[in-house]
Amino acid sequence: MSLSMTKPDTVPGLPHLWEILPEESSANDRGELTIGGCSVVDLAKTYGTPLQVIDEAGLRRQMRRFVHGLKSRWANSEVLFASKSLPIVAMYAIAAAEGMGVDVAGAGEIHLAVAAGVDPKRIYLHGNAKSSEELALALETGVGTIIIDNFDDIARLETLVRRPQDVLVRVIPEVDADTHAAIFTGGKESKFGIPIRQSAEAIERITSHEFLRFQGVHVHVGSQILDANPFRDAVGAAAALGQFPVYNVGGGLGVKYTYDDRRLAVDDYLDAITTAARKWLPAEAKLIIEPGRAIVARAGISLYEVTTIKESAKTFVAINGGLADLINVALTGQRYEPVVANRLTEPWTQRAQIVGRQCESGDLMVDDALISPPQLGDLIALATTGAYSYTFSNNYNGALKPAIVFVGENKARLAVRRETYTDLMRCQWPAQATAW
Ligand code: LLP
Repeated sequence: MSLSMTKPDTVPGLPHLWEILPEESSANDRGELTIGGCSVVDLAKTYGTPLQVIDEAGLRRQMRRFVHGLKSRWANSEVLFASKSLPIVAMYAIAAAEGMGVDVAGAGEIHLAVAAGVDPKRIYLHGNAKSSEELALALETGVGTIIIDNFDDIARLETLVRRPQDVLVRVIPEVDADTHAAIFTGGKESKFGIPIRQSAEAIERITSHEFLRFQGVHVHVGSQILDANPFRDAVGAAAALGQFPVYNVGGGLGVKYTYDDRRLAVDDYLDAITTAARKWLPAEAKLIIEPGRAIVARAGISLYEVTTIKESAKTFVAINGGLADLINVALTGQRYEPVVANRLTEPWTQRAQIVGRQCESGDLMVDDALISPPQLGDLIALATTGAYSYTFSNNYNGALKPAIVFVGENKARLAVRRETYTDLMRCQWPAQATAW
């Protein structure tokens, strides 16, 4: 049982280890990382690597912090799981069971949500380039709310909709935030949403349609934000657009990835939003938020095996994964903290470049890491990789997308199986059939 295991509060040089690993993490007496009571060494033996491991109890606890935390501050509220952060059936099902709605961004995510048994009324469809087919699928499925991003969405819906349909209008909030340019969406130049100066025209056009029911506005400032001010400003920007029944102020709460990162607690984030809401929003309005990363990032780790160790200009420790299953290092420069998961309690004395197996120099998983000296076959875990890892997984160099297991109460269950080489061949025509 994980609780009875040692949780050393100081690992040499790394006193904050337990703050970035999943909540239900510990070390067993063999010095192995355990999650939900399961040794990752056993998980690697059973399911192979690369493997994503998700701590279900920690995940559910975090969902409740959001759902109950928002409810207790603003009764007429809803928390949506931004499902792009981990779009797998098991996650949609858990989010629904914990009382969350879901935000989807396209037909694929509608299919996943429906397969998980999510009530379509609690699905919110996003997208800056929705096709007519996607909108038709949403209408047919009974998706509760469609978030209009542009005038083409309106034109398509005008011709497709045959029954009353709730919609929100996404407006560019013109709010600044300190985050990576690739995940900042609040500025004037964003490709998402309608400029403030065109919002009244969009709302008028929607309101004049027989079946389109305008409910309110949506704003989203960006992702991985660790300062409360942009969230407060987002509420202010939404309020400035007018008085409506619904305000969806987006997601974006950041997480602590590294020992040095600061943290913005869920409670402080919710305080900032609801204090602003009390100041600026109509008292009876419905307040919606849509966190993704802050729900699932910490609950997950990525587990790899050390395949080669090379002493050249630096010590290169190569693992059996890479940017095919964790592209964020290359995409946004995100830093993740590594641990040698089967030597957790040994001294961390080795400086190393932890690198992936894909053919890119940018496939550097952790620059200048400090770890226990590893040996071939050891397991390296990267902490806080539950969000936006599997989402971006790809087949670069013929890599197979990893498996995902959920763990808790000393048990593990497979949520997504590892791809096979048969899967890899699934869409390929035989060479003779493709020859002219
Ligand atoms: N709502 C909308 C409209 C969004 O576009 C997003 C994220 C969210 C909510 C959820 O944001 P979150 O709470 O997860 O920050 N490649 C990136 C992530 C892209 C985020 C995209 N939009 C990364 O991992 O750095």
